[in-house]
Parts: sequence; structure tokens; C-alpha cells
Amino acid sequence: MSVSLEQLRRCHFAVDLGAARTRVYVKGTGLVVDQPSVAAVNVRSGSLIAVGDFAEQMTGRTPDYIRVVRPVSGGTVVDIDMAQRMLRHLMGDKLRRALRRKARLRAAACTPHDADPLAQRATIETLLGLGARRVELVDTLIAAAVGCGLPVERPEATMIMVCGAAATQVAVLSLGSIVTAQRVPVGGEAVDQAIVQYLRHTHELMLPSQSVRPLQLALSGNGLTPQGPPETEINGRDVATGLPRTVRVRTSAVREAIQTPLTAVLDGIGKVLRACPPDLVADLADRGIIMVGGSALLPGFDQMVREGTGMPVLIAERPDVCAARGLGEMLEGRIEPLVLDPLAA
Ligand SMILES: Nc1ncnc2c1ncn2[C@@H]1O[C@H](COP(=O)(O)OP(=O)(O)OP(=O)(O)O)[C@@H](O)[C@H]1O
Ligand SMILES: [Mg+2]
Repeated sequence: MSVSLEQLRRCHFAVDLGAARTRVYVKGTGLVVDQPSVAAVNVRSGSLIAVGDFAEQMTGRTPDYIRVVRPVSGGTVVDIDMAQRMLRHLMGDKLRRALRRKARLRAAACTPHDADPLAQRATIETLLGLGARRVELVDTLIAAAVGCGLPVERPEATMIMVCGAAATQVAVLSLGSIVTAQRVPVGGEAVDQAIVQYLRHTHELMLPSQSVRPLQLALSGNGLTPQGPPETEINGRDVATGLPRTVRVRTSAVREAIQTPLTAVLDGIGKVLRACPPDLVADLADRGIIMVGGSALLPGFDQMVREGTGMPVLIAERPDVCAARGLGEMLEGRIEPLVLDPLAA
């Protein structure tokens, strides 16, 4: 495997700092934090008012002196100091004290597939600030593949698609390493934006950011698929008058608006398949693609990938926490390293 399982086994906790959500896994305990990567700050005093779920609820509803910030953007920590403060609060005093008692605290974190050295450094610095003496980095694709139980160590190809908030990463893995991978900067956020823009342009309606998810659900249980009600009612604010207004929206039109960003994802899959050696592609044809990440839950997304590629598509169980769970498996030492030693045979 392209990560040192030996070193990971010595880590005490693991962090998945995502653009949308932050997850913390503590060795021997399990997943202890799964909250939005959001912090609310008092701009007058600089103090932190809230983090996680509560801070997210404040988005767009705060008085002047409170600012809601997201220290992780596009999959990278952009505000190290704020990310540290947010993590400290999310983890809580009790857990932090317990971790600090370890003689040489070690942490693991996953970073996006093509994270540059600067982005990796930002993640490392964030965890060093939490008291870790050493930080191991794992590619999100590997962590997620382990987390959804793919046989990453075997000489068979497996294809994984990590559908996050900021980006979608697609890869073919074999023998514990990435054979080919692509990162498309389109994720759940881009889909939400496409819906907001569609309503703004076509219906001159401003949609509060928190209404996007209910709208997706209103597209029936089927979302991107044509079965479902032809129309749905949405409350928002008129762009011109600023007054509240309700409009009836055709669900098929919203579906079309979502298609554009998702087409970029299909392109990414195509690129990965074209760059992949033929032997592995043959494996993939019957094994198919496994989807993980929160956006894998976007209704109808799997169907779209199925139609676009002609391959079997499967959504992992609890796709949103796969990467964090994979890190956990590696920390607990449940992953057996592959022994490549032909002379021993
Ligand atoms: N039930 C759902 N239906 C549609 N979209 C969903 C659902 N649940 C989560 N999402 C979307 O999934 C995204 C969050 O996914 P995830 O938790 O994997 O992101 P992340 O790990 O924080 O992001 P990244 O890995 O890109 O940094 C959000 O954009 C959210 O809109
Ligand atoms: Mg993620």
C-alpha cells in the first residue's frame, strides 16, 4: 500500500477535514465527531461563538458582529488557526485532555488525491497545533476504498468515486495503490449552486442556501430521474422587489440544471478509464464502480453514472463517513499489509 500501515497503526487519532464536514476517529473509541466544518466568530472580540451544526444553522441569519466562516475550502485548509480552534471545540475538552496525556501523540489525516505540498502542509500544521508530534497523511481515495471494504490489496482492479462537497475524485486501484486518478472540481456545492442559479435566472427567485437540500428532496425520492411529481412549490425572495414569493417549478427543468455540473464528473470517469491498462478495464466491466462521499446520496446520481458508463454502479453503505472509517480501520491495524515477496514462494 502506498501508505505506511506500520506508522498508521501507531497513530492515536485520525481527522478527515472536508469542505463540508469534519470527522474525527479516535483509536479504540470510533468515530467521535461528524459535524459541519463551520465556525461562528464574534468579530468584535475574536472569540468563537459556535462550531459545527449550530454554527451552520446560523449561516445567513447572523447580526453584523457575528461572522460564519468555513476554514476548509475546496478540500484544503485555508485558515489554519480557525481550523485548529474549530477542531478543538468539536473534539471537546475531555477528549483533548485524554489525547494530550499520550506521550508522543500521533495523528493521521486524509488529503485529496492531488493535494499540493502547500495544502498538505496546511493539514499537518493544523494537527500539530492540536498537540500531535507527528502526522501521517493518507490519500482520501485509499482511505475511502478501505472504508467501504474494497479489496485494495489484491491484484484486481477496483474503481472508486469519492463524491465530496468541493470535488469528485475518481480512481482505479490495484495492489493497494492508485493506478490512475482524476479530481474534478465539481461536487455537492456545485450542484447546489446550479439549482440556486437556475431559480435566479429563470424564476427571478433568490433561494436561501438552506432550502436547496429540501428542494432536492422535493424532486421526489427520485431526484434526477423522471419519475416523480412534475412540479413543486418553492418559497424564496423575489430578485427585483425583495419580497417573499412562491413559485411553481418544473422538476424536469431543475434536473436539467443539475446535469451540467454532473457531466463534468462523467468526463472525469471517462478520462480515468481511458488511461487505465486494458487488463484492469476488463476487471472493472463486471465489478463496476463504487460511489462514496456525501454527494453519492444525491438522488439519481448513481443512475446517471450507470447510464453514462454502462457499468454496474454501487453506493457504499454510509457513503459519507467511508474515508474516516477507512482511516480508523488502518489505525486499529485491521488492514493486513500485502507481502510482495516472490522469493519466499
Ligand atoms: N442526502 C443527500 N443528498 C444530496 N446531497 C447530499 C446528501 N447528503 C450530503 N450531501 C452532499 O454531500 C456533500 C458533503 O459530502 P461529504 O461529507 O463527503 O463532503 P466533505 O468530505 O466535507 O467534502 P470534500 O471531501 O469535498 O472536502 C455536501 O455538498 C452535501 O450537499
Ligand atoms: Mg471528504
